[in-house]
Amino acid sequence: MSYETILVERHDAVTLIQLNRPQALNALNSQLLGELIDAFAAFDADPAQRAAVLTGSEKAFAAGADIKEMQERGFADMYGSNMFAGWERVTATRKPWLAAVAGFALGGGCELAMMADFILAGDNAKFGQPEVKLGIAPGMGGSQRLTRAVGKAKAMEMCLTGRFMDAAEAERAGLVSRIIPTTDLVGEALKTAALIASMPPLAAIANKEMVNAAFETGLAQGILFERRLFHGLAATEDKAEGMAAFVEKRPGVWKGR
Ligand code: HXC
Repeated sequence: MSYETILVERHDAVTLIQLNRPQALNALNSQLLGELIDAFAAFDADPAQRAAVLTGSEKAFAAGADIKEMQERGFADMYGSNMFAGWERVTATRKPWLAAVAGFALGGGCELAMMADFILAGDNAKFGQPEVKLGIAPGMGGSQRLTRAVGKAKAMEMCLTGRFMDAAEAERAGLVSRIIPTTDLVGEALKTAALIASMPPLAAIANKEMVNAAFETGLAQGILFERRLFHGLAATEDKAEGMAAFVEKRPGVWKGR
């Protein structure tokens, strides 16, 4: 599939996906959603690809769902087409991917960043859920993921007032893992993804599934899930190789099985 609203590059085992609607600050319209679903599915299906980075521009990761597109759509249309349900296909990506966020990540843009396994922020990043000002509310998971990430007080204030959070506050609050100078952001994100891509692939996916289980289960169930997956990894050739490589003081060579 050829894309008009995103750019996709392969850097060895890392897929770089860049949102590319600069005239609309990368506002997320339905064409972009369709292209992103396709790009993530292709990444997941390609055995040579092991990690991905999603980024925007230095000015905007994404300034939200496309307001001009939503303006025309009423309840029956949105409900009937289950608008935004397609984003669940992005979050269904099994392999690890991170968001490299510079500039505005607002509304759906903040929600898309929060779908990533983690966020690296440029020092000019601004996060917000300003939907209330448009007479609407988050619709791609923001009320849930932001609250889990930063707690009720900050999430509620941001949703009720539309206040933006800068990169420093986002790091303090736990929304982003690290802040990088914006000019180095994509390079650092690619390096981080390459490090993830160099890990035993089944172990990487298992680590991702375990951490995500913490958001879906109670503690006892989550710990049981972790332990069973841990036991399962003992059946992989990469576990035998990883431990042998450690004992023999050499780098491991992974087979992905
Ligand atoms: C469509 C958008 C857009 C958006 C910006 N643009 N955001 N178009 N949808 N979400 C367009 C503008 O109309 C303008 O196009 C061009 O991008 C540049 O934007 P400016 O406003 O001129 O830039 P600037 O003055 O630098 O201000 C940047 C900004 C502002 C602060 C980010 O654009 C802004 O407030 N945008 C909307 C942010 C927002 O409310 N996001 C939440 C959307 S609702 P023209 O053609 O005029 O030059 C949402 C719902 C989520 O996300 C629910 C489920 C998905």
